[in-house]
Amino acid sequence: MAMQLDQVVPFGRSLDEYIQMFNLTSADRQRSLLGVGDGPASFNAEGTRLGYRIQSLDPLYVFTAKQIRDRFDAVVDNIIAQVERTPDDWVWGYHASPAALRQHREQVIGQFCEDFAAGQAAGRYTVGALPHLPYADRAYDLGFSSHFLFLYSDHFDADFHLQALQEMLRVCHEVRVFPLLTLGLQRSPHLDAVLPALTAAGFPWEITTVAYELQKGGNQMLRITH
Ligand SMILES: C[S@@+](CC[C@H](N)C(=O)[O-])C[C@H]1O[C@@H](n2cnc3c(N)ncnc32)[C@H](O)[C@@H]1O
Repeated sequence: MAMQLDQVVPFGRSLDEYIQMFNLTSADRQRSLLGVGDGPASFNAEGTRLGYRIQSLDPLYVFTAKQIRDRFDAVVDNIIAQVERTPDDWVWGYHASPAALRQHREQVIGQFCEDFAAGQAAGRYTVGALPHLPYADRAYDLGFSSHFLFLYSDHFDADFHLQALQEMLRVCHEVRVFPLLTLGLQRSPHLDAVLPALTAAGFPWEITTVAYELQKGGNQMLRITH
């Protein structure tokens, strides 16, 4: 049986995973970047050290680093156990095994937690939640949704997805979303409503295959422009 989660979980990915998921070129990385739903990813911490301009937003940022880490610790055993029970649902390439995946996620949240207080003081981590963003029109060049939109299609309906993407497009010149699969490894049913609605609203989009694949078949990224 595929992965089942009651809530959106605080699992985070690294800068290198963001680069692969979103096909981020070195030119892309010089642009102003907004990670929506970045949670405990180390994208911001690692990228900031390299001089990238990254803003992250997540409802989770209302909590302290310790509270976020405690929540991760409370759910990680269950998630890795579900992964171990469904070995054929995953591609063991980037991560060699469920144990390696766990170790990587722990390393990522460790880097996030170390950076969180300094990042909050610098204004790099903002409390907020889609479908509303507290930013001016076109404030950022590139906006990302990693492992939130489409993945949690059972938790959020098509209207939410469309509103969320239109809000990200209000704030960003370009938006990229990965993956396009649900937790159950199906192509998100909301794509059939959202993609024609984006076209009708005048937003060009394309779906491209990327190098990163952990969920089997989850190697497609949606790129939307103005
Ligand atoms: C599975 S985590 C992914 C974190 C990160 N983007 C990554 O890929 O490493 C999903 C994140 O979505 C966040 N989230 C939940 N509801 C949200 C909302 N309405 N708007 C933005 N983010 C939300 C959660 O708090 C969580 O941090």
